[in-house]
Amino acid sequence: MKRFILLMVINLGLLSISSASAQKFDNLAKTPPMGWNSWNKFACNIDENTIKGVADAMVSSGLRDAGYVYLNLDDCWHGSRDANGFITADSTKFPSGIKALADYVHSKGLKIGIYSDAGRQTCGGRPGSLGHEYQDALTYAKWGIDYLKYDWCNTENVNPKGAYTLMRDALHAAGRPIVFSMCEWGQSKPWTWAKDVGHLWRTTGDIYNCFDCIDDHGSWKAFGVMQILAMQDTLRKYAGPGHWNDPDMLEVGNGQKVNQDRAHFTMWCMLAAPLILGNDIRTMSKETAGIILNKEVVALDQDTLGLQGLNFETKDSVQVWLKPLAGGDWAFCLLNATTKDISFPIDWQHYNFTDKEVSGRSTDFDRIKYRIRNLWTKKNEGATSSNKTVNVPSQDVVLYRLTPVKK
Ligand code: GLA
Repeated sequence: MKRFILLMVINLGLLSISSASAQKFDNLAKTPPMGWNSWNKFACNIDENTIKGVADAMVSSGLRDAGYVYLNLDDCWHGSRDANGFITADSTKFPSGIKALADYVHSKGLKIGIYSDAGRQTCGGRPGSLGHEYQDALTYAKWGIDYLKYDWCNTENVNPKGAYTLMRDALHAAGRPIVFSMCEWGQSKPWTWAKDVGHLWRTTGDIYNCFDCIDDHGSWKAFGVMQILAMQDTLRKYAGPGHWNDPDMLEVGNGQKVNQDRAHFTMWCMLAAPLILGNDIRTMSKETAGIILNKEVVALDQDTLGLQGLNFETKDSVQVWLKPLAGGDWAFCLLNATTKDISFPIDWQHYNFTDKEVSGRSTDFDRIKYRIRNLWTKKNEGATSSNKTVNVPSQDVVLYRLTPVKK
């Protein structure tokens, strides 16, 4: 009997050890991750001086203090694998190595992210992690990495759930908390299976730096801001604290018009999307800084309820979006994706609704009077007790935060 009990205890112990490693790191990404990534602006042209310059700019511009703390290397930092199969950095571009870069980034009060791929090679043709998952996870932990974007090129017959779960387990076993960003472009509908695997998952193919168009390469497409937005609405029930839908990194400041950038940034905040900047923040314009550093808009994205907004309706070519916020507030957004300005009447009662699908929250405009704060003009605009007509400029937004007036 004693032997039986002893065996049971050992078995239970082993069970708890194996189940302890089979999980993702908890308490990471409780709100959508914020930071910067090298790909959208620099593609493969990255090196340690550029990245250090970006780190400096994240601090001096105020981005770090506004919450953008992850500085993420994307593709092409890699050299080859050493004789034992461990990955090394490209010694021409990163002569001091990734550990030294991570130390520099950490010394600025930032966190550092890295990039790999579940296949043989990354999309840029560098060594992928296939067959080296535990080795790579150990290496990242040793270097002090805080965030891993894990891509999906050259995966051939690899099974997505298996591959991402394997890397999750490898990261967990390596012991350093690392945000796990899954980049398989939504192909296997990761929102249906990845809640306990990754902290965020891409929902679409790559973003294309265009407000409203598709970049069609035949076998693959990249999507403009409006095209990506249209693919998000049905996914809102899958997102929440620690597990986010990722409609891809931002193109704000990469050459679109200021109104288009404002609409792009606003809609990513309405979606509770990860806010990963993709512009050259060392040289950004005042207009770009004014958009990405608007703290009241960022606060919609970072709201602690972690609820993705919804497209309530499209009326007279204006998309009306609502997002439930903590404390009974709502974000109310009018998006005009057309090329003409639109004068739009707001009858608040028309927006009485209950979010049955996700939060159970009701707007209740007949019983609750809300104070209206315009988050882009930064002005208060009265209350929802009176209806109003607003001008929604072409390819732009009107964005309100509604806060219940206490009786
Ligand atoms: C894929 C990803 C992009 C980027 C590139 C790098 O296309 O979806 O976000 O990481 O690879 O090669």
